[in-house]
Amino acid sequence: MTKEDDQVLSGSDHPVAGAACLPEHVAIIMDGNGRWANMRGLPLLAGHRAGAEAVQRTVTVAIKRGVKWLTLYAFSSENWRRTPGEVADLTGLLRFYLRHKVAELSREGVRLRIIGDLTRFPPDIQEEARRAEQVTMGNDRLVLVLALSYGGRADIVQAAARMAQAVARGDIAADEIDESLFASALLTAGMPDPDLVVRTSGESRLSNFLLWQSAYAELVFLDTPWPDFDEAHFDTVLEIYSRRERRFGARPA
Ligand code: IPE
Ligand code: IPE
Ligand code: MG
Repeated sequence: MTKEDDQVLSGSDHPVAGAACLPEHVAIIMDGNGRWANMRGLPLLAGHRAGAEAVQRTVTVAIKRGVKWLTLYAFSSENWRRTPGEVADLTGLLRFYLRHKVAELSREGVRLRIIGDLTRFPPDIQEEARRAEQVTMGNDRLVLVLALSYGGRADIVQAAARMAQAVARGDIAADEIDESLFASALLTAGMPDPDLVVRTSGESRLSNFLLWQSAYAELVFLDTPWPDFDEAHFDTVLEIYSRRERRFGARPA
């Protein structure tokens, strides 16, 4: 094994192969609100409301189980393609939760962090979101990362642009760019990579979620639509994860 390989396997910021236990970072693609509402003959808004309730349940169970990072894909950079009415429904729900539920989250020890292009949201939402990040800054039981107008490709492109600007300014040389420096320019800078990525509602795709960061994540796809996701489903995905063997390219011992 070369020195470089050895560093990759044992370096402090690189994972070590072996049995997976409790994931430190769970990321969820919360899909299926629309189908859940359709099946019940309800308007889309009812599906998104029920989805928001599932978010609250999931935060509570993540804390109970000792997960330290929970990233929720709430709105993709492509979700702006939906009708103005649906976008307004989703924006309205987001506004309500930012205004009325952050204090409760904070009491539970949750730190909120937002990744994505917040500038595409109305100014009051941008302000509420930044305020929520500030008031929860000191909490450390769980970091709840909300992906809002997030796109994995856009994340990689803005990181590349930042690297290019740093080179152009003479702050770094081009050959100093390595994976860890590049990762520090992503919106997820300072966060551990997701150990487990869950998608609900039967689709087996990433839909532009955390593309760089999920390189070695374990993927679990459930048929359950997001509004029905509860504590038992959370335990099921933790159990599935615990049976996975993570290798990171190494030969298992
Ligand atoms: C996920 O549910 C919520 C968002 C993407 C904002 P969907 O609204 O995508 O639900 P389906 O896929 O139409 O059932
Ligand atoms: C992914 O779901 C985005 C979120 C869950 C926020 P979509 O419903 O937008 O994904 P596609 O369009 O089915 O790929
Ligand atoms: Mg969907």
